Amino acid sequence: MTFELPGCAASCPYLPGRAGALEFPIGQVRRVAQVPKGGSDDVDETRRNVLKLAGVGAIILAGGGLGAASIQYVQPPTVGLTSYPKTQLIDADGKPLTVKGVEAEYNVGTNDLFLFNYPLRNEPNFLLNLAPINGQKPTASNPGMWNAPGGVGTNGSIVAFSAICQHLGCPAPAIAYYPPGTCPNTFSTPSSSAQPFYIHCSCHGSTYDPANAANNLTGPAVLPLPQVTLVTDADGNIFATSLTGPPVNGHLDSLQGDYGVGSTSQLSRESPVQACSTFP
Ligand code: FES
Repeated sequence: MTFELPGCAASCPYLPGRAGALEFPIGQVRRVAQVPKGGSDDVDETRRNVLKLAGVGAIILAGGGLGAASIQYVQPPTVGLTSYPKTQLIDADGKPLTVKGVEAEYNVGTNDLFLFNYPLRNEPNFLLNLAPINGQKPTASNPGMWNAPGGVGTNGSIVAFSAICQHLGCPAPAIAYYPPGTCPNTFSTPSSSAQPFYIHCSCHGSTYDPANAANNLTGPAVLPLPQVTLVTDADGNIFATSLTGPPVNGHLDSLQGDYGVGSTSQLSRESPVQACSTFP
């Protein structure tokens, strides 16, 4: 599937050679601005439901039968939460995710993506450990990040961000974490003059800094990725307790648009789509 995106240069949308790898997974968020060429198979269900219900309401009104009992059917259905839940993260083996487990299993150099949904079922997030590969303090030759904003763990290196791009909503694995050495690109950031790790979206090239609250390093996105607030308990178990930053892309409010994940959310491990040749 290809898309016409208003305001994009001819080379901006999906390139033919990698279109297949960048399809939206079924069920993921889609933006109303994305119009499929020559068809309308990408239906906005919420809008259609609202129109249907408005039609029912009009019939009731025309019949003069408007009463308190019928008003409820004019309201569009809403699905979501009223507040952020405290959700315990569970590792891929079904055990509680702990600081010790994360620090033993991965670090700034880990290529695979660790994803969990929070606070809604259709809101995936990256869980990253930005600690250097050798566990030592980060330096220019030993890249990584201690005491990252919002970081938890032994040295504040464990962070989590929305895995839905703030430009037009491409989800992971099209938006992915790039460990040091994956691509030749480096970025000047508040933490480093040549930071070699970042989150990058291969759909149109937005890049984000995981060491600094996922702020933008390159557009076209202009907003940071929402950050998951993580906390730990005395045993080192890791919990998600809220989101900060802008709403998750495709949601007017990060708490509205699907059912909540509940009291636990299990991580999945995915291989990223990494496209060095297209950016910045
Ligand atoms: S969706 Fe366009 S850069 Fe990510």
